[in-house]
Amino acid sequence: MRHCASKVGAVERPGMTIFIPSNRRKFQAFATSTRFAVYFIRITRVDAHMDRIRIVGGNELNGTIPISGAKNAALPLMIAALLTDDTLVLDNVPRLADVAQLQRILGNHGVDITAMGKRPGDREYCGQTLHISAANIIDTTAPYDLVSRMRASFWVIAPLLARMHEAKVSLPGGCAIGTRPVDLLIMALEKLGAEISIDGGYVIAKAPGGLRGARIDFPKVTVSGTHVAVMAASLAKGTTIIGNAACEPEIRDVASCLNEMGARVSGAGTCRIVVEGVDRLHGARHTVLPDRIEAGTYAMAVAMTGGDVQLAGARPELLQSALDVLEQAGVQISVNDEGIRVARNGAGIRPVTVKTAPFPGFPTDLQAQLMALMVGAQGSSQITETIFENRFMHVQELARFGARISLDGETARIDGIAALRGAPVMATDLRASVSLVIAGLAAEGETMVNRVYHLDRGFERLEHKLKACGAAIERISD
Ligand code: UD1
Repeated sequence: MRHCASKVGAVERPGMTIFIPSNRRKFQAFATSTRFAVYFIRITRVDAHMDRIRIVGGNELNGTIPISGAKNAALPLMIAALLTDDTLVLDNVPRLADVAQLQRILGNHGVDITAMGKRPGDREYCGQTLHISAANIIDTTAPYDLVSRMRASFWVIAPLLARMHEAKVSLPGGCAIGTRPVDLLIMALEKLGAEISIDGGYVIAKAPGGLRGARIDFPKVTVSGTHVAVMAASLAKGTTIIGNAACEPEIRDVASCLNEMGARVSGAGTCRIVVEGVDRLHGARHTVLPDRIEAGTYAMAVAMTGGDVQLAGARPELLQSALDVLEQAGVQISVNDEGIRVARNGAGIRPVTVKTAPFPGFPTDLQAQLMALMVGAQGSSQITETIFENRFMHVQELARFGARISLDGETARIDGIAALRGAPVMATDLRASVSLVIAGLAAEGETMVNRVYHLDRGFERLEHKLKACGAAIERISD
């Protein structure tokens, strides 16, 4: 992502849109003032979906890749800031389009967000520190044009309802990977005493006397449902017991932050979470945990290209199932003080049979990347997707590399081929996009990945990190 702060000039108010005449690109600038009237300006290219990534495949990856903070923890952590009128400070927040979009959404509710600049001694890829203050919530509506771009933004409904006793939130958008309903989120809020109606594409939630603790049993494991239930219950009167809760590490990370803010959440990371409601939460400082999906993605990239890469900051216990699958496939994995080291030297990839499952099972968010890897395996693999019903959109794009994949319901059979050939490709969701990048790194010749907007939503400085390890990869901005 290119930053052009120097060209922008004076910024007078948050959220203003600036046009740069020299290259006619559109930028969003966000300014937040401190009491010293110093402006911190964060600039995000909003037309990055026009960019392409060009890869010339065949290079091994060797070196170190720093792992960023987890997008899937950073987003609910930022949303949790709505629960208190004190400031929540989050360290290690990744610089991603989804984070910038959530800043816009929170800004619309009246939240002030300051992004701290670089400090002496900061590493090149250091995550950003956000100071988030929801001292005055001036608007409890999350409008369609903001929420429709990112599904997780729907989750603001929980803290708004818990603290302000009302919320009006547009039904969500996000990645095109199935219908992704919000019925279980609504069910959880209703159990906590909310009155909910749907009108004109908006979910309207009210709890005039505040939320009340309740028993919530999810009929299926849902990350979004669990986040919403925990956040809402933290300010409810009485005790909430959440059964069949999601155990994902990001749920535990958010619960730890809530506890640092004065909440009383226990059992997060298991399938039974107990929340004792409190009257108010206070400020805290919390560091976002490392991104297990980013780490798993780069591990698969190294498995595919060969080489030897240190995933700095990656935590093996967050992605053990994926590491086990890679070892079955013949990849060398070792854990050290710095993180996880992944190597493949000469040996071919062995085929595997894998089913996605909620944590600690194999993550659906690594399914597309594993499929790309198995395209080059020595034999037939099977991958079954059990979380989302329509998460095979990458299959037809992988076919452009010469992949031989057949689908039977929720199972894909991948017959490995000797060599992938580079191709122009396009993707419709975040994880599918990166599977095409991985395939391109290993393919013979040139690959052009179109619509990289999806990559920018979830992978921080992807092309920089890969290039530093020897990949021939560049972003092309027309
Ligand atoms: C989160 C992650 C996403 C990951 C997914 C599964 C974030 C920002 N996103 O998405 O990267 O792929 O977990 O690990 O953390 N469902 C319902 N009704 C509901 C809610 C969900 O039927 O009200 C279904 C979904 O359609 C899906 C399954 O439950 O089939 C799991 O969804 P969920 O765990 O909620 O995924 P997200 O939280 O949206």
